[in-house]
Amino acid sequence: MEEKNSNTNLIVKTTSLAMHIVSDYIRPGDTVVDCTMGNGYDTLSLAAAAGCTDNSALRGRVYAFDIQQQAVDATKAYLLKNGITDPQANGIYLIRDSHAEMERYLPDPSETEISAFVFNLGFLPGKDKSVMTTAETSLPAVKKAIRMVRQNGIVSVMAYTGHKEGEEEYAVISEFLKTLPSKKYHVAYVNMINQKKTAPSLFLITPKVRERNIL
Ligand SMILES: C[S@@+](CC[C@H](N)C(=O)[O-])C[C@H]1O[C@@H](n2cnc3c(N)ncnc32)[C@H](O)[C@@H]1O
Repeated sequence: MEEKNSNTNLIVKTTSLAMHIVSDYIRPGDTVVDCTMGNGYDTLSLAAAAGCTDNSALRGRVYAFDIQQQAVDATKAYLLKNGITDPQANGIYLIRDSHAEMERYLPDPSETEISAFVFNLGFLPGKDKSVMTTAETSLPAVKKAIRMVRQNGIVSVMAYTGHKEGEEEYAVISEFLKTLPSKKYHVAYVNMINQKKTAPSLFLITPKVRERNIL
């Protein structure tokens, strides 16, 4: 689990930087979404921020998505290793489906505010590299997340340009995010300008107004 005040060098580890920023937008009791569950590291960090990992009276909800059963199994195992035997009882929902389908599982955002959506694109490290996110589903999913996140909430998108599909995905998402109206959204971009091409880039989006039909 990412400790808020750990000695992690946030500039070196972009995933930790993303979670450090995202956590600041989440309070115990909040509802949040991990759009790419993978090995469950982000799921657990989000669960901790939302109050799902202890006996907090303010227990939130985490919805985590992945298309691979391997990811669901790895996440279950990682949660168990961290003391969570029954994820659902802790408000953590592990869903084997595409992030493009997420509205089928999430609460209605007009009734339950959703504070954060986290995308860590690409493939599962150390596993089948042919199963990866692609712009075909990640772009619509990012658009949905931006539409559903609460005002002053956060959508975080980590993108990788080290492989051909990733490069394409990064370009499509980047071009779309540039078109978001500046009066309604703030979009930040973090890029490692002196590192290898495989270093990830991070997009952070926050809506300044609550407007659902803009995209
Ligand atoms: C870089 S990994 C995510 C790492 C993860 N956040 C963690 O903390 O371990 C990307 C994941 O996206 C998943 N993925 C690919 N296409 C997807 C889709 N359409 N919907 C949801 N997840 C998808 C892959 O199976 C892979 O597990």
